[in-house]
Amino acid sequence: MTGGAGFIGSHISEALVQRGHRVRVADNFATGYRHNLRDGVEFIEGDCADPAFAQRIVAGIDYVIHQAAIPSVPRSVEKPLGSHRANVDGMLQMLHASRTAGVTRLVFAGSSSVYGDTAVLPKTETMPTNPLSPYALQKLMGEMYGQMFTRLYGFETVTTRYFNVFGPRQDPGSPYSGVISLFIKALSTGTRPVIYGDGGQTRDFTYVSNVVEGVILAAETPGVGGEVVNVATNGRVSLNQLLATLNKIFGSDVEPIYKDPRTGDVRDSQADIAKAGRLLGYKPTVGLEEGLRHTIEWYKGANI
Ligand code: UD1
Repeated sequence: MTGGAGFIGSHISEALVQRGHRVRVADNFATGYRHNLRDGVEFIEGDCADPAFAQRIVAGIDYVIHQAAIPSVPRSVEKPLGSHRANVDGMLQMLHASRTAGVTRLVFAGSSSVYGDTAVLPKTETMPTNPLSPYALQKLMGEMYGQMFTRLYGFETVTTRYFNVFGPRQDPGSPYSGVISLFIKALSTGTRPVIYGDGGQTRDFTYVSNVVEGVILAAETPGVGGEVVNVATNGRVSLNQLLATLNKIFGSDVEPIYKDPRTGDVRDSQADIAKAGRLLGYKPTVGLEEGLRHTIEWYKGANI
């Protein structure tokens, strides 16, 4: 798998090792960390957008779980070229190398951002896409390349569209970090979190173990080549509600600092997960509050 030193990738590789699979991890530490690499994996360092490296890491591999990416909507707005290389060129190189090497299937880490603002919620896979940022467009290109490889060459690909994933090992160390990691860091250190906009924007925050389950099902389920599937919880929480829940768990009453909304930000996000249930037998098992409690526990131990 690629991106195994990243937050989500480290959880997937850990679960695969636990299930007895042999796992090769590739990562260039663009956003990941060596300390996220799990025991029992074979590790190769490099950049998936480099064709020779892509070829090298897929040799002898049955399933490619392609998680390497440069995430963050605002980072892509500020630096569209770097994220394009990682998110689009990296995916194309991995597709080409995997198909050529005789890989059985490639699972791609897609994003809910491809929907943009839709008139109707929850967002279903049949809705037209409407990317509002370079990141969203890059993720859309990745999944479309995947589908094209299935159509043109019969090479099986599945895209799992993630919705705001959070959990242990998510890095709160940059302004581009996921909002939950930043809010938890703020409350742990007694500083006021920043809310961009009025805090009424909503997200389907998904605890990482649900995503691990969805990805493994996407790899293992027969007959789903070419499919694009939401992997989320079907919940919808505003940032103001999220902060209130965190304050409740921390036993605090911290007020946010409101700033201007971010360019490229989606207003509301909530997944329809019926297709994942029907096609993959996917069902989220850890809800928001339980996931937040696990995450806070982890941050306490990690001393971040
Ligand atoms: C987007 C995608 C998600 C993708 C992720 C990758 C959508 C709906 N979701 O997440 O699928 O995996 O990019 O990076 O497009 N915010 C604050 N204060 C902060 C940080 C963020 O108020 O300190 C706000 C943002 O403006 C946004 C929300 O919190 O409205 C969530 O932000 P973030 O965690 O960065 O994720 P998205 O951009 O929603």
